[in-house]
Amino acid sequence: MGQKKKIGILTSGGDCAGLNAVIRAVVHHAIGNYGWEVIGIQEATHGLMSRPPKAKALDLANVDSLLLMGGTMLGTTNKGNPFAFPMPDGSLCDRTEEIIAGYHSLGLEALIGIGGDGSLAILRKIAQQGNLNLVGIPKTIDNDVGATEVSIGFDTAMSIAAEALDRLHFTAASHNRVMVLEVMGRDAGHIALAAGIAGGADIILIPEIPYHIDNICKKIRQRQARGQHFCLVMVSEAVRTEVGDQVKEISQMGEDRYGGIGKHIAEQIAKYTGAETRVTVLGHIQRGGIPSPSDRLLGSIFGVAAVDLIAEEKYDQMVAWRNRQVISVPIEEAIKTYRTVDLEGPLVKTAKGLGICLGDD
Ligand code: F6P
Repeated sequence: MGQKKKIGILTSGGDCAGLNAVIRAVVHHAIGNYGWEVIGIQEATHGLMSRPPKAKALDLANVDSLLLMGGTMLGTTNKGNPFAFPMPDGSLCDRTEEIIAGYHSLGLEALIGIGGDGSLAILRKIAQQGNLNLVGIPKTIDNDVGATEVSIGFDTAMSIAAEALDRLHFTAASHNRVMVLEVMGRDAGHIALAAGIAGGADIILIPEIPYHIDNICKKIRQRQARGQHFCLVMVSEAVRTEVGDQVKEISQMGEDRYGGIGKHIAEQIAKYTGAETRVTVLGHIQRGGIPSPSDRLLGSIFGVAAVDLIAEEKYDQMVAWRNRQVISVPIEEAIKTYRTVDLEGPLVKTAKGLGICLGDD
């Protein structure tokens, strides 16, 4: 069984489905099999900055119904980079030493950080600065973390987006409308492409492939000429306009957020084809709800593998899924490459093979 350890776990960045499945797996394996203690740190690094640190001991009784639960029982944040933390007086402060002190004050010997590329990069920098023992687990609906084929949360988000297309299909057909569905994904089009193919989209626009509006209108007219008077258009949120502009909204907190490209495309389609269009922005629906069985499975696999890495004292590593295996890779390798859609990969080929318009021809 080895030496008894006390380990921490935190979730960082935007939430997604499957995070609680990871927490449950870590608790089961670390406590149930290794006999360690597991401390759940609340609200990502903010929990370690607080005094006393916001943290609670987890046990098997805490995690009973977690497999099915969306979100994260630990809370999370995608705000406040601890290297330049916004203070109430408007200044920016480096609070990383407080995080390191918080880790030591809890008596932790290792930390499991569940995050996307941004969070993992920050956690790694803090771990190096403070000599902390970090193991990373990739999560993000965007599926853009390097060195792993899939991250927790993607499958659920993709399934919800595909289901949204299923639901739009018949109302589109009933009214002969062009339905535009805008989905998340930041700068990678994985959700749009996968869900678009699975949901039978006629047109899929992703940030990796610049579109020309003529190609989109041509596809709609071709369908009309065949008597197919409705059309399903999937648009990823970071698609740029034809002239290369990003379409963003300013949130009430004054931050930039992707949003609005679906409306822009729908207006262009209406203008050039005369078709009646409607727009649906799926938004955070993709991050909520019950995790899909695949995300529960991946979360369980990653959670168990992360605990085993700590048992082997293999730190500065991230668990990853590749070639039907769970492996570990240096966190550095995972964060140095941003995983966008492979233009030579099977999904682009499949979309083209199905006659789906990707906007480029
Ligand atoms: O990175 C995950 C993600 O859901 C992106 O797809 C999206 O652009 C962003 O987070 C939304 O962030 P927020 O929850 O802060 O609105």
